[in-house]
Amino acid sequence: MDRLRLGVNIDHVATVRNARGGAVPDPVRAAKLAERAGADGITAHLREDRRHIRDADIEALVEALSVPLNFEMAATTEMQAIALRHRPHAVCLVPERREERTTEGGLEVAGDAARLADYVAPLREAGSRVSLFVAPDPAQIEAAARIGAAVVELHTGAYCDAVAEGRTADANAEMDRIRKAARTAHAAGLEVHAGHGLTYDSVGPVAALPEVVELNIGHFLMAEALFRGLEDAIREMRRRMNAARGGA
Ligand code: PXP
Repeated sequence: MDRLRLGVNIDHVATVRNARGGAVPDPVRAAKLAERAGADGITAHLREDRRHIRDADIEALVEALSVPLNFEMAATTEMQAIALRHRPHAVCLVPERREERTTEGGLEVAGDAARLADYVAPLREAGSRVSLFVAPDPAQIEAAARIGAAVVELHTGAYCDAVAEGRTADANAEMDRIRKAARTAHAAGLEVHAGHGLTYDSVGPVAALPEVVELNIGHFLMAEALFRGLEDAIREMRRRMNAARGGA
């Protein structure tokens, strides 16, 4: 089985900073700590409304990181220009609506293929590995492969909600969709990632899927960091991922 990478999403360090409008806590400091704790990459979502990560954070991260940056963005011309300027290691295209609290669903790739293809190609040509954040739905995955994405990131939100709310039958059904979607994506030649809402309780079955090579995790790690510190919170997630993968 390929090694499972952990991308740590630092958006919510910026959320806390912005609550007071000052400079602390610093997302770059969090990113460096995450690197030290074993993160294989750092993920940051520059939203259109700049509610957490700001343009200057992306510049500072590009400057400071030793591990790859995964730049999450909506498919807009403004974000495309920013990504093409920085040429991050990876770009993950996500849907974005101003009124949502977080990224609530996957991208509508099947119904918007021509428009999204116009985003994928220039990013790929600039050297970024382009990922599409999709629901675990075969139609979306097949459309992602058709428009030339290298990666799909499977949205684990519905599964994680069911785990958190103790709805075991729903959690099993959602996990089944994710398992099948991972196989479909792998068979279509796509690299498979997963993320959204993952916690210590929900990460195991997703980490155990042999097709999945990267998880992106943010909100839970930052919440846990309040009580046990960021490095320890990340190390514990890494330990659970390794255990689910059959390692130590
Ligand atoms: N992957 C993608 C594409 C996301 O948009 C997000 C949320 O920003 C995450 C992973 C991480 O989700 P969470 O913060 O719930 O762990």
